[in-house]
Amino acid sequence: MSKNMKDMPIGFFDSGLGGLSVMKKAIEDMPEEEFIYLGDSANAPYGIKENIEIKRLTLKGIEFLIDKGVKAIVVACNTATSVAIEDLRMKYKGIPVIGIEPALKPAVELKRDGKIIIMATNATLKEKKFEKLMGKYAHDNVIVPLPCPGLVEYIENGILEGKEIDYFLRTLLKEHISSKIGAIVLGCTHYPFVKKAISNIVGDEVAIVDGSKGTSRELKRKLMEMDLVSNRISRGNIEIFNTLGKEKIDLSFSLINVK
Ligand code: DGL
Repeated sequence: MSKNMKDMPIGFFDSGLGGLSVMKKAIEDMPEEEFIYLGDSANAPYGIKENIEIKRLTLKGIEFLIDKGVKAIVVACNTATSVAIEDLRMKYKGIPVIGIEPALKPAVELKRDGKIIIMATNATLKEKKFEKLMGKYAHDNVIVPLPCPGLVEYIENGILEGKEIDYFLRTLLKEHISSKIGAIVLGCTHYPFVKKAISNIVGDEVAIVDGSKGTSRELKRKLMEMDLVSNRISRGNIEIFNTLGKEKIDLSFSLINVK
């Protein structure tokens, strides 16, 4: 592999700000890599759209990253992964295309007493990919898929704490807190931004897991396998784009606010 290719950036895509929670982990794990992020906030939320539209928007977003010369793609959106990952892998055969899925396996492996709640978008929960994932673990565990329409909008608007989001989350989780919860899976990359607010409602003893760790690990593994790890010894650049235009969003907050 030429040195040039190795030092090209890694492209991250999400329907909005959520994927930054995944990119943050990848930056921690691979600080010498260069990163380019595209958030499609102008079209968020994806989770309530038809598949055909989610696919169209995702392919368009990824094309933007390809035009920027990325050496790998991370679809840092559970919804876009569920709907478009196969098409993307067919289209971009030469480079790693990494997706994300609800971190049910790590949640099951915690072996906590109580049910496992999977919070995700409607689109993610109704896809075959999710059905397959459930099929692997549902026989030995009590798993409750919980669609959360409306939650992404709060996060896109920067509402991460306070009365309004507390009320929303409490209503969403109301019927589930009466029986024991072992773990909550954040199956949408936006939700780690409100992890603290969720924890305040369900209690600190409930484990809250997301897919950023596994996705970053898979990215690293793929880069090594395809001999694409950067030779850089200093920190790589990070560039963040959003379809709303830079002036509309304080993008720096998003990397800082993921706990
Ligand atoms: N961040 C996306 C995910 O991981 C979905 C948000 C949306 O509905 O746009 O599923």
